[in-house]
Amino acid sequence: MTGKRTEILVIGHRGMLGQDLMARLGARAAGADREECDVTRRDAVEALLDELKPAMIINCAAYTAVDQAESEPELARSLNADAVENLGLAARARRIHLITISTDYVFSGEGEAPWPEDAPASAFAPRSVYGQTKLEGEQRLRRIGGEFCVVRTQWLYGAGGRNFVDTMAALSAEKPVLRVVNDQLGAPTWTRDLADALTLLAERRATGFFHVANSGFASWYDVTRHIVQRLGRACRVEPCTSEEFPRPARRPHNSRLAQGKFAALAGSAPRPWPAALDAYLSERHGRNTDGNPTFS
Ligand SMILES: NC(=O)c1ccc[n+]([C@@H]2O[C@H](COP(=O)([O-])OP(=O)(O)OC[C@H]3O[C@@H](n4cnc5c(N)ncnc54)[C@H](OP(=O)(O)O)[C@@H]3O)[C@@H](O)[C@H]2O)c1
Repeated sequence: MTGKRTEILVIGHRGMLGQDLMARLGARAAGADREECDVTRRDAVEALLDELKPAMIINCAAYTAVDQAESEPELARSLNADAVENLGLAARARRIHLITISTDYVFSGEGEAPWPEDAPASAFAPRSVYGQTKLEGEQRLRRIGGEFCVVRTQWLYGAGGRNFVDTMAALSAEKPVLRVVNDQLGAPTWTRDLADALTLLAERRATGFFHVANSGFASWYDVTRHIVQRLGRACRVEPCTSEEFPRPARRPHNSRLAQGKFAALAGSAPRPWPAALDAYLSERHGRNTDGNPTFS
């Protein structure tokens, strides 16, 4: 028992987003992961909240193995929906503000317009088990009510976990040619920028649905070309379609997220994706954005 009231409890604090969020919140936050509390168990969640008495919870825990979820739907559901319900019920009973993270994969991916935060029911047609179970988490929270906030984000990368940017940075150093899908559009988003946005949403005690991503839109092909160019790799990048690169889970083609609500609250949307990616590459891969080594 700590005896002291925790300001913000971060669930999933050792995950990719959780690590950047803990760094951003500093002494204001306490963290819990599966090791400290299995959030799929309601009794474990209630015991943790009664011990730490947080004023706010930010839930970063999830089943995030998108392809694997196709063959493990119950496991994905237990974390992406049951655990969110556990947190929602326990938070409502204790008047704790709950922020949880969702995804662009809840949308059908049709059309070309950015998805609004309060999209009509017809927009929600997930293409994958991961997207379906994340949507179920959102729906259960809506039913529970209380002081909650759902933050949909997308295409995360950060130093604390495996991600597309690091994979492409490594592959482009080894391979002469990379073929990358060019028919899925969204925005690569640095977990550090998302952590800043979550901190602001927490400070404002925001409720309802928000979209937060780095600004602008790109395909994975565009993102890879940017990485290759900035890191000064000789590798050639070729576009391909999702059909040419089949994966167990289908991904939405149109993953553009409109973030007017967040921009209105914060004064602006997070910085453009190329600027965030340049900063990450410079810090993590030791390159200036002009392709020259930072340290040599
Ligand atoms: N990554 C993306 O591109 C992306 C895109 C859109 C939305 N999101 C959402 O953003 C959030 C953060 O994603 P992320 O990539 O940072 O996730 P992540 O790196 O996979 O981290 C998830 C965390 O949840 C913890 N966890 C798993 N099972 C648990 C349990 N039963 N009880 C308590 N904790 C448990 C994990 O701990 P263990 O390591 O011990 O299992 C891990 O620390 C998630 O809600 C995700 O759905 C991610």
